Amino acid sequence: MTLSNTNTTIDYTFDQQHIWHPYTSMTQSLPVYGVVSAQGCELTLDSGEVLIDGTSSWWSCVHGYSHPTILAAMQQQLLSLSHVMFGGITHQPAIEVSKRLVQMTSANLTKVFLADSGSIAVEVALKMALQYWQGRNKPQKQRIMTVKSGYHGDTFAAMSVCDPDGGMHTMFGNNVAKQVFIPAPTSKFNEPLNQTDSNALEHAFSQHHQNIAAVIIEPIMQGAGAMRFYSPAYLTKLRALCDEYQVLLILDEIATGFGRTGTCFAYEHANIEADILCVGKALTGGYISLAATLCSDEVASGISDSPAGVFMHGPTFMGNPLACAAATASLDLLLQGDWQQQVSAIEAQLKQELASATDLAQVQDVRVLGAVGVIEMVSSVNTAQLQQAFVDLGVWVRPFNKYIYIMPPYTISAAQLTQLTSAMVSVAGSIADSGNKQQFISHG
Ligand SMILES: Cc1ncc(COP(=O)(O)O)c(C=O)c1O
Repeated sequence: MTLSNTNTTIDYTFDQQHIWHPYTSMTQSLPVYGVVSAQGCELTLDSGEVLIDGTSSWWSCVHGYSHPTILAAMQQQLLSLSHVMFGGITHQPAIEVSKRLVQMTSANLTKVFLADSGSIAVEVALKMALQYWQGRNKPQKQRIMTVKSGYHGDTFAAMSVCDPDGGMHTMFGNNVAKQVFIPAPTSKFNEPLNQTDSNALEHAFSQHHQNIAAVIIEPIMQGAGAMRFYSPAYLTKLRALCDEYQVLLILDEIATGFGRTGTCFAYEHANIEADILCVGKALTGGYISLAATLCSDEVASGISDSPAGVFMHGPTFMGNPLACAAATASLDLLLQGDWQQQVSAIEAQLKQELASATDLAQVQDVRVLGAVGVIEMVSSVNTAQLQQAFVDLGVWVRPFNKYIYIMPPYTISAAQLTQLTSAMVSVAGSIADSGNKQQFISHG
């Protein structure tokens, strides 16, 4: 089934004057590209240009766009029940998606809170941890510990656990809770835990455990804050310390969940379990917003023993049936499909095709894990300028900070992926060229 609407005219003037885009100014707008339809791994612009998508729409659209199975599930759901409140009401779409989440995640995670976005799933996780310790008579456990270079969302509690320097702490001052930060992991993905990391973890737990309710971390891949991968052994150590010092472990799998790093959940690389788990993004295959926070029986029972006796969260669109139907269809595709083989083929191709970027003058590092390929530049890039260069090359890649990266849909073809990787190497090379010229001029 294809629902295309390619004749749309985009009113750029209205957009520019009235509509915020992510992290932008309303007075000094940045260029935007009008998308009129998307199919498979391609976005069609109003200009008629077709771009191969390297972003999966911020890492969510893992099966590609307009997938007939997800569209059919949503269309069918729309006809019977697109939304109904979740207070005092339940429905089968929420039950179906929750059954699959309980089945797919580690055995200890049995309770599901259906949230409306990733940031809210993080808020919910943090609240769960705080209420849990109230219920276990340790109300002094009120702070959250995390690592630097993390990213967990843009709402206030989520911001408080984002990287304190790169995040928005200074911008919002005292409104952002003061949490405890450990240095970012330095043990690389294929390495054992190094002494520096081990010491930093042990020191932080022994110093702060009495006031720490939970540690929150993005397992294996630090995404928006750093685009880097770290050792599974770091997570094993972290889990052990959480157990030793009575601290809950919240794993934020919003970016990594559902196959992105090569295992269904990134924590599987370390064979550990979370006490609380956040998922989002690819949960619906990227078709509509839905996230979830799962927790163990023990966490749920602690919350019930807290003075409130209930978990204090309940958004209007909680458990939205349309989103649940999309998620169920997407999870079924993952459960039946061959994502594992697709992701490992993408990983092999990314490793091969990005390798040459290592030699470019302005490139700091090239790294690949699962369906994630990153070229880290020496310094920050000009997103708007590079964006145009990528569009000119027929691909949609959105660099930020020092990172030119892709996280394509798992369904991407080898030829499409080659077009993406050659564009990345070519654009990184053009920066390298200008870098060389500057160096040359300054030598002159
Ligand atoms: C690890 C992680 N947590 C939380 C979020 C926030 O999710 P959302 O943008 O859906 O609020 C993101 C978004 O990029 C993320 O990568």
